[in-house]
Amino acid sequence: MNARLAELQPYPFEKLAALVEGIDPPKEKSPIRLSIGEPQHAAPTLVLDALAKNLGGASTYPSTKGSPELRQSVARWANRRFKLARQALDPERHVLPVAGTREALFAIAQTVIAPQSDTPPFVIIPNPFYQIYEGAALLAGARPYFVNTLEANGYRMDLSGVPDDVWKRTQLLYVCSPGNPTGTVLTLRDWTHIIELSHLHDFIIASDECYSEIYFNEAAPPPGILEAAARMGLRDYKNCLAFHSLSKRSNLPGLRSGFVAGDAAILASYFNYRTYQGCALPPPTQAASIVAWNDEAHVRQNRDLYREKFDAVLTELGDALEVRRPDASFYLWPRTPIDDETFTRELYRRENVLVLPGSYLSRTVDGKNPGANRVRVALVAPAAECIGAAERIRRYVESL
Ligand SMILES: Cc1ncc(COP(=O)(O)O)c(C=O)c1O
Repeated sequence: MNARLAELQPYPFEKLAALVEGIDPPKEKSPIRLSIGEPQHAAPTLVLDALAKNLGGASTYPSTKGSPELRQSVARWANRRFKLARQALDPERHVLPVAGTREALFAIAQTVIAPQSDTPPFVIIPNPFYQIYEGAALLAGARPYFVNTLEANGYRMDLSGVPDDVWKRTQLLYVCSPGNPTGTVLTLRDWTHIIELSHLHDFIIASDECYSEIYFNEAAPPPGILEAAARMGLRDYKNCLAFHSLSKRSNLPGLRSGFVAGDAAILASYFNYRTYQGCALPPPTQAASIVAWNDEAHVRQNRDLYREKFDAVLTELGDALEVRRPDASFYLWPRTPIDDETFTRELYRRENVLVLPGSYLSRTVDGKNPGANRVRVALVAPAAECIGAAERIRRYVESL
C-alpha cells in the first residue's frame, strides 16, 4: 500500500458525521443542511437539453484535450470575463478542459511536484482551505505549509512571514479566490504580489476560482489570476494557472466539468500527465459545457437568487452572530459564541440545522486554528429553508 495514504486526514464530512452520530433532532422541525457546499438551485434547462441531445456521443472515446469547440468556448468565456485581449488565450495552448476542478486541483500537484526524499518540497496552502490541496500535496510527496487567513489580515494569506528556506523549497502555491470558506476576494494588487513572488522564488500558482461567478455587485466581478497576469504584461501567464468550474457557476456539480487555463508550458506537462490518468470529459458533457460557457443569462439569475438569500438571511440573523457578508461565494463564516464543535452539535440537536465546524476545515498552526470558534454556513438550500435556518440559528444563539 502507498504509505502516503496514511498521512491523509479524515474528510470534514466524516468528522461531522461522527460528531452528530446518535443525535436525534426534533422530528417536528424539518432537517436543513447547510453543511455541504453543493449548489441546489436548478440546473439550466438549455444545458440539460444539450446533454440529452448529445447522448449519442457516449459511443465514442473522448480525447483528453477536449473538442476544439469546447476549448474555443472556454477561451472566449475567459477572455471576456477577465477582460483579456480578444485572442489572449489560445484554445490550443492555454486551455484544458477538466472533469471538475476537484480532480484537476489534485492532479496539478502530481504533475508539478518533484519529490525529493531528503528535503521534501513545500506546497503553500491557505488555512482554512479546500481539503483537496492538502491531500494532493501529501500524495505528491510534498509537505503542506499552511498560511493562516485571519480576520486581522482581511482573510488573506500574509506571505511576508514565509521564511526563505520555505520559499526555496516551494514548488506550488494554492490560492482560493473567492475563498472557501471565508468568501474573500483577492484584489489585482494582491494577485500582482503573489505572481511577483512566484517569479522570484520560482513556484507555480494554482488559482482555484470556482466561486468566481457567485458575487453580489454586477458591476464588480472578482478579478482572477489571468486578468492580473495580463495587466502585468505576462502574455505567457508564466507560473499562473486558473481553475474554473461549472459546478457553482451553473449549478452543475454532477456534470463534472471545468477547465484550467494559463501557462502553456505547464499545461503541456499537465496534459501529458492527464493522458495517463484518463480523465477526459465524455462527449455529451463536452457538448453541454459549450452551451453552459456560452450563456450568461442563467448565471445572472443564479446570482440574483444568492443575493436575495444573503439579504434575507443576514437580516434574519440580525446581530445574533458576529458575521459579515462575504465579498463573494455562497458561504457565511460567522464567529461562534461557544466552541465550533459544541455549537454545531447542539444546533443540530435542538434545531435540526446542520452546519460545518470551522476547525474541520483548517489545521492548527503555531498553536492557532483559524477555524476554531467559527462555522461554515452554505446558503445553498432554497430561500425559504435558508431563512428558516437563520431564524432557528438566531433562536438557538439567543438561548445560549
Ligand atoms: C474551493 C473549491 N474548489 C474546488 C471545488 C471543486 O469543485 P468541482 O470539482 O465541482 O469543480 C470545490 C467544491 O466544493 C470548492 O469548494
